[in-house]
Amino acid sequence: MRSIRVSHFNAPLIILVCYDKETAWRNPADIWYDNYCSGEQDATIVAATMMYEAEELGIHNVWLMVFDSKAVAETFDLPKNHIPVMMFAMRYPSEKTKPSDWHFVRKPIEETVTVL
Ligand SMILES: Cc1cc2nc3c(=O)[nH]c(=O)nc-3n(C[C@H](O)[C@H](O)[C@H](O)COP(=O)(O)O)c2cc1C
Repeated sequence: MRSIRVSHFNAPLIILVCYDKETAWRNPADIWYDNYCSGEQDATIVAATMMYEAEELGIHNVWLMVFDSKAVAETFDLPKNHIPVMMFAMRYPSEKTKPSDWHFVRKPIEETVTVL
């Protein structure tokens, strides 16, 4: 097991979520994206589900994807064809933790939903 430190979040644990581009399901129905690979979508569903579960257990976590996939793959010596999608840093919150004010800001629904 390897460890990296994301000092900004002071997290003792980070989970890196990847998919295998050789075995990921491909969508034969999509003509626009020929043989569209669903690996990224599948990995994202898995990641979000794990994050909700961690939160349910009282472990705060944060989505991270601003990284160079190649550097991550090399650093962690990922198996062949494994593509890193995201990582999430997790930790129990300190007693002083409070959500950012942004959590309570809501945009008008017209700004985020397009009705066709
Ligand atoms: C798709 C996505 C990727 C993100 N990638 C990063 C990242 O690489 N590094 C980072 O510091 N925050 C990243 N963020 C922001 C954090 O996940 C988080 O939203 C932000 O730190 C605010 O956290 P809070 O909502 O708990 O206050 C990303 C957010 C999203 C939606």
